[in-house]
Amino acid sequence: MAHQWLGLLNEYADRLPLVEGDPVVTLREGGTPLVYARAISERVGAEVWIKVEGANPTGSFKDRGMTMAVSKIAATDTEMIACASTGNTSASAAAYAVAAGLRSVVVLPAGKIAAGKIAQAVMHGAQLIQVDGNFDDSLRIVRALTEAYPVALVNSVNPYRLQGQKTAAFEIVDALGDAPDIHVLPVGNAGNISAYWMGFNEYAGRAVASTMENSYQRLEPVATKVPMMWGVQAAGAAPFVAGAPIANPETLATAIRIGAPASWDYAVAARDDSKGQITSVTDEQILEAQQILAAEVGIFVEPASAASVAGLLQAAQAHQVPEEARIVCTVTGNGLKDTKTALAGLGAGDDVEAEVVRADVDAVAAVLGL
Ligand code: F0G
Repeated sequence: MAHQWLGLLNEYADRLPLVEGDPVVTLREGGTPLVYARAISERVGAEVWIKVEGANPTGSFKDRGMTMAVSKIAATDTEMIACASTGNTSASAAAYAVAAGLRSVVVLPAGKIAAGKIAQAVMHGAQLIQVDGNFDDSLRIVRALTEAYPVALVNSVNPYRLQGQKTAAFEIVDALGDAPDIHVLPVGNAGNISAYWMGFNEYAGRAVASTMENSYQRLEPVATKVPMMWGVQAAGAAPFVAGAPIANPETLATAIRIGAPASWDYAVAARDDSKGQITSVTDEQILEAQQILAAEVGIFVEPASAASVAGLLQAAQAHQVPEEARIVCTVTGNGLKDTKTALAGLGAGDDVEAEVVRADVDAVAAVLGL
């Protein structure tokens, strides 16, 4: 029988703060694949699964938070939403604004957004403002703008965003039958690690610091445990490793080029309460992990997303991965958003060079050595 996933507000209605009369603004986000990765499992000596968040409607995990936040805003008379972004939040905000019939404005660090993400914001009709500054500057501006004007903030400091994002943890437990031993994900503004930690705890029936009061935490537990949370940052943008915000973050993984994460306290709590860790990997390690995911698993992710797998591989090399552990790595965004960095990482130019042959089957077979 035909069945379509209804989007996470419908699928997890009993655990989300939507109330009677709120509109459901959805692009049927969530329900993303959880894929067993043999190539990475063998490298690491554990059971490794990949949560493919690039399969969301706008190609990143941001859609989970956006369906929740924008539905809440659509219930009010605010007509405009705004965010700062390294690219994915803006793509998602722009799309959900369309779905809700709202205007959107996105404030971006000039010259530091992957082309695909800019294209998304433009195609969805967002008003684009590029500032001469980084993401942290952009967020400061948008916060002040939304405090002073009738514009709703949809960055993850909006408490509804993390409520939506926590559903990825639910999906993982629902798919595996229990929480994994270790959950690995990239950390930038630190909203997602905080959201996953909320979700895993809620599903295990444990109280945890949450962005909102929620009575649904009293539902029957689904999981028997919570995972260790392993966050991974880019070495040039690793404030959690430094132990303090950093002024000039730099990495080719532009999605996580952030020096002053907004969800600092939640992320530190997730790391410490779970007996986890937040580590860093170099840009080279990120590109290598991106290539392994593409060429050995079949999943093309953007550089920031590959940080999770890079961090896991690094931990395995340092013999820090418990044998037989069940591990989930979240890969947060789709590789199609930033083909330029991916191809440059392979040493290829913007255009892939391939030999042009005569339009003839024999000529093609000859090239193939057949
Ligand atoms: N991966 C991708 C692909 C991202 O776009 C982001 C954040 C992260 C990981 C980190 O998640 O911020 O919750 O720790 N992107 C934001 C944006 C900042 O504007 O799109 P986080």
